[in-house]
Amino acid sequence: MAEQNNAIYLDYHSTTPVDARVVDAMLPYLRENFGNPASRSHAFGWTAKAAVDLAREQVAQLLGAQPREVVFTSGATESDNLALAGVAARYRHSGTHIITSQIEHKAVLDPASALEKRGFQVTRLPVGADGIVDPEAVREAIRPDTILCSIMMANNEVGTIQPVAHIGRICKEMGVFFHCDAAQAMGRVPVSVKDAAIDLLSLSAHKMYGPKGIGALYIRRGRPWLRLEPLILGGGHESGLRSGTLPVHQIVGMGVAASLAGEELALGHELERQQRLRDRLLEEITNGLDKVHVNGSMEHRLVNNLNISFDFVDAEALMLAMPQLAVSSGSACTSATMEPSHVLMAMGYSRERAASSIRFGLGRFTTESDISRAVELVVGCVPRLRELSPFYRPAP
Ligand SMILES: Cc1ncc(COP(=O)(O)O)c(C=O)c1O
Repeated sequence: MAEQNNAIYLDYHSTTPVDARVVDAMLPYLRENFGNPASRSHAFGWTAKAAVDLAREQVAQLLGAQPREVVFTSGATESDNLALAGVAARYRHSGTHIITSQIEHKAVLDPASALEKRGFQVTRLPVGADGIVDPEAVREAIRPDTILCSIMMANNEVGTIQPVAHIGRICKEMGVFFHCDAAQAMGRVPVSVKDAAIDLLSLSAHKMYGPKGIGALYIRRGRPWLRLEPLILGGGHESGLRSGTLPVHQIVGMGVAASLAGEELALGHELERQQRLRDRLLEEITNGLDKVHVNGSMEHRLVNNLNISFDFVDAEALMLAMPQLAVSSGSACTSATMEPSHVLMAMGYSRERAASSIRFGLGRFTTESDISRAVELVVGCVPRLRELSPFYRPAP
């Protein structure tokens, strides 16, 4: 095991460190301000309620939403489940068809499969080698009994940014609810739920320098009415949509993380810095190695993402060869299964290419020296592994 302190962290899609400003804001809500926001009869409760109200405003502001449209959950997995199962249960009488894509996170794909077992039909749209869903394919897939379309804003493996505003317009025009998993996009892509005609949007705090175990689901209010059946009952918190005592410190952390993300987006230079570092990483790897392929569109991609395949190299072996570099092969959320990435397979790549792919995720605390060290490790290890491959012939 490598010493974590000396390691280079380039796995920001898996999770991000909690920003020190977020930690500082959270601490008083673990110490003196420990009240329950549902306690209406004393100051402890009022203080907690005021903190939750502020955080709800901060999250809403990042989305261009109203605070009452934000429901706190335990993370994007729960938000995705609530969106899919909640709409399905409520609108079963209007239709039983759901559209999604083959490159969604398992937090969408698994609830969709569970609904299929309960009599719903699911269309999983394919993508091209660029990793992008074609909005016209959404239009063509819509049937009279379609109730929901769920397409992510940015993919967690290849970082491709989906044309969600276009998809949102089509769904609105055709009277289908539109859910968008924005866990990877928040703070990296400007989002306006109103402009993109998004009805439901999932968020996770730990992907944007907030704590783990807290997320939110944006649920549009107003006409045409959208109602969800809750997954968790008991107490009627969060307008009855998500019962359970609110984790105030987590919520405060998410609020501050959202407001920092909004500032970063507005200023722009931090995201430009990450993009420069990401482009430098790609350039120096491709200068140092042949037979390297970028997976997915470079044009419509999160500024902090790079996903590349190294011919004749097994990604797991490469990661073992450089334990000082924290990166991921496929998706950290599904790598336990050791299946080739469903995203890369959906993009039409071979099993070999998928098995030789590494995802680099940069972030707020990535430095120039992290990139230099990462390049040195990758460019040093790949040729050694290739020499072990019976199929590899070095370029003459
Ligand atoms: C796109 C996407 N959706 C959902 C999730 C699940 O988020 P959480 O860890 O908050 O449950 C992730 C996490 O990897 C993700 O990347």
